Amino acid sequence: MTTYAYETVKIDIEDGIAWAMLNRPEKRNAMSPQLHDEMDDALAKLEYDPQAKVIVVCGAGGNFSAGQDLKKFFRDLDSDPAERKRSRMVANRWRWERLFNYEKPTIAMVEGYCVGGAFMQLCGCDFAFAAHEATFSLSEINWGILPASLVAKVVADMVLPRHALYYACLGDAFDGKEAERIGLITRSVPKDELRAAVVELAVKLMGKSPNALRGTKQAMRHVRGMPDPQAYDYLAEKMKASRVGDKQDSYNSGLKQFLDEKSYKPAHGAFRLKQLADE
Ligand code: ACO
Repeated sequence: MTTYAYETVKIDIEDGIAWAMLNRPEKRNAMSPQLHDEMDDALAKLEYDPQAKVIVVCGAGGNFSAGQDLKKFFRDLDSDPAERKRSRMVANRWRWERLFNYEKPTIAMVEGYCVGGAFMQLCGCDFAFAAHEATFSLSEINWGILPASLVAKVVADMVLPRHALYYACLGDAFDGKEAERIGLITRSVPKDELRAAVVELAVKLMGKSPNALRGTKQAMRHVRGMPDPQAYDYLAEKMKASRVGDKQDSYNSGLKQFLDEKSYKPAHGAFRLKQLADE
């Protein structure tokens, strides 16, 4: 059994869902170099831990994250360029490279504050659910700095361009409903329904073929930047790759259920199937 012993990160695994919590509640989960090291290590382990099927990135104490730690990540490292470079590489690796290419589905669960550098893991996760009452802010402009690392790019890629420019240049706070409206998150729900909504999504994801889901989410993320000829080729190869080692043989079992057994109509999805059963 994999162990996760950290000071600034807490991992709870329950019924296939791994809750990967930033755990500095007294600092609103501001991200220190130690927290970056620990999240990077935790995500690397969770990716191949068979107990963890879906990863939820969230924060302890009612906040997602107040962004980079302005003391420990910025001021304290001003005089230590080597450690600054190392820590920045680790910070970028877990918040972007790891999450963007992750083997398992990932969900960001946002309550309270989500500020500045926390937009990296917000956009790095495949799905993002937030409380209506959550507070988002690209506050960098208010510190006289730019949304660097990759914050400007991941927000520009995720959000409609007018809204991305507005919130990056003004630094105004906005809530969960506005985050959903501009395309930054998947869904906003009342705070007291947030955890249940995230669990419901995770359970649905666990009902899919892991191979097909992995291939689909990675493909959806990678094709955005590809010209059509390259995307045709990439998707054809990705499709072949997704069938390698598929224990459930999803493609052939799907065909059998639809064509021979007539027991499943994939286009209706699970909801329609339930409706049919109820009729
Ligand atoms: N870096 C370092 N410490 C922080 C940070 C941060 N980003 N955010 C909060 N803290 C610390 C505070 O200094 C305070 O510490 P103390 O108890 O030792 O004094 C503690 O966390 C609690 O913060 P408060 O401000 O008292 O909490 P409050 O709930 O009133 O406000 C809020 C929370 C709105 C998040 C506020 O702390 C804030 O604006 N923080 C800065 C957020 C920010 O701009 N982050 C972006 C940084 S730049 C980047 O990420 C690239």
